[in-house]
Amino acid sequence: MSEAVLTAWEAVRRVERRTLDALFASDPERATRLSGRIAWGEGDAGHGTAGGLLCDWSKTHLDDALLAAFERLAEACGFASRRAALLDGERVNVTENRAATHIAQRGIGAAADVEEAEALRERMRLLVEAVHGGALGEVRHLIHIGIGGSALGPALAIGALTTDGALVNTHVVSNIDGLALERAFGACDPATTLIAVASKTFTTIETMTNARSALRWLEESGVADPYGRVIALTADPDKAVAFGVDETRVLPFPASVGGRYSLWSSIGFPVALAAGWEAFTALLAGARAVDEHFRDTEGRANLPLRAAFADQYYTRVRGCQTRAVFAYDERLALFPAYLQQLEMESNGKGVTFDQQPVDGPTAPVTWGGLGTDAQHAVFQLLHQGTQLAPVDFIAAVAPGDALDPAHHRILLQNCLAQGAALMAGAKGEDPARAYPGDRPSATILCDDIDAATLGALIAFHEHRTFCNAVLMQINPFDQFGVELGKRIATAMDKGGGEPLDAGTRMLLEAAGLD
Ligand code: F6P
Repeated sequence: MSEAVLTAWEAVRRVERRTLDALFASDPERATRLSGRIAWGEGDAGHGTAGGLLCDWSKTHLDDALLAAFERLAEACGFASRRAALLDGERVNVTENRAATHIAQRGIGAAADVEEAEALRERMRLLVEAVHGGALGEVRHLIHIGIGGSALGPALAIGALTTDGALVNTHVVSNIDGLALERAFGACDPATTLIAVASKTFTTIETMTNARSALRWLEESGVADPYGRVIALTADPDKAVAFGVDETRVLPFPASVGGRYSLWSSIGFPVALAAGWEAFTALLAGARAVDEHFRDTEGRANLPLRAAFADQYYTRVRGCQTRAVFAYDERLALFPAYLQQLEMESNGKGVTFDQQPVDGPTAPVTWGGLGTDAQHAVFQLLHQGTQLAPVDFIAAVAPGDALDPAHHRILLQNCLAQGAALMAGAKGEDPARAYPGDRPSATILCDDIDAATLGALIAFHEHRTFCNAVLMQINPFDQFGVELGKRIATAMDKGGGEPLDAGTRMLLEAAGLD
């Protein structure tokens, strides 16, 4: 890290620590000054249905002094030029020598990247329309096979956007455990089922093994042309064609779109098939509203950057090793898992982008779950445990259900009560009944959970992840940490590779795999 960055970090660390109570007491406007809204609306650059996110960071320890110190740090880290490089399609993924063009999939970026994305999206639209229009016969089910970034985004979006029923019943299968695929087979009629094979590399062992088993299932069920039922979503179309998928059913996406950033590309095909083309484009439009905010807003007013200031403060100044995310909305049940991959695979690194050891902790462990369920399971630790874990709450003003409004009212009241309780704490008649308080949380209150909002929420977190990476000087776009285990597993299967340790040999023998 440069001298300027180290000095800026020193200044951040020197800022006087104040309690949340004191921060609110000294600033009557704090709730409004530390919250901001990103909105979109009809007639507003084609963003679709009106909506917005209220991002409230007032219950974090950010104050004027910290914000100013972090703004200086961002400047020392070259935030503005790094953001410009990302948006201009420069090769920001330095270890893999390529750009990161997920934002171009939403219409913002270098003209050539945006044009390429549009052309590929048009190809996808035609196939989605053809399937909906019956060109592939009756299609009632889709088994979407992919893993990691090729599965989590579709699973999240389909779960959130098809609560009133899906145009095509979609089953996302990721695990190599055959039970996952068997369960999908059990829910599908082979004669009316399509298989989407989603893999950026088209080599991932779980996905390719599941794809072959799905083809066998179609064949054994009497489907005349099993390969004719397969659609490939990939950045390596040649491999998909070599696998046996007809070129007309291969939907490519650029190699510069990272797996965990790929929902916006042809990896979103099952979302468009299940929730409709309009929903898919609204997803992109919601993301674009956040992209515009991220591109056009400076300093603390840039809400993903402000969130990253708080993230860095808790991880690097207060030593927090985790950050918890609770979605108070069934539609967002998979959102914590989605963020886990986005944040931990992007920023769980040990070296800077110029290959130097990082001078402090990088990404905390992202974990979380669904409110209110989690309140009755893990919130004990958040309120009274010895670890400080900053919490994010995500909720929506509009309910996802049509039952007695009491359901949604109680859901939201519980969400907001948790943030208040964490901050205020309470005296107890004995230490076991006392709450220390001064525990930070942030709240993202969405108008509703529709496609645009989901796109906006994901884009907000993509940019927050990028901002965190810039402040730590790391490359968020590679993931070499996942490779070693894959190599050893492959060597085990082939009976080669480096000699294994005695402990692993014992386990292999016990598992009957020696
Ligand atoms: O193992 C990690 C990873 O490479 C993720 O980054 C990626 O999303 C996932 O595997 C699946 O990879 P692919 O889309 O190439 O099958």
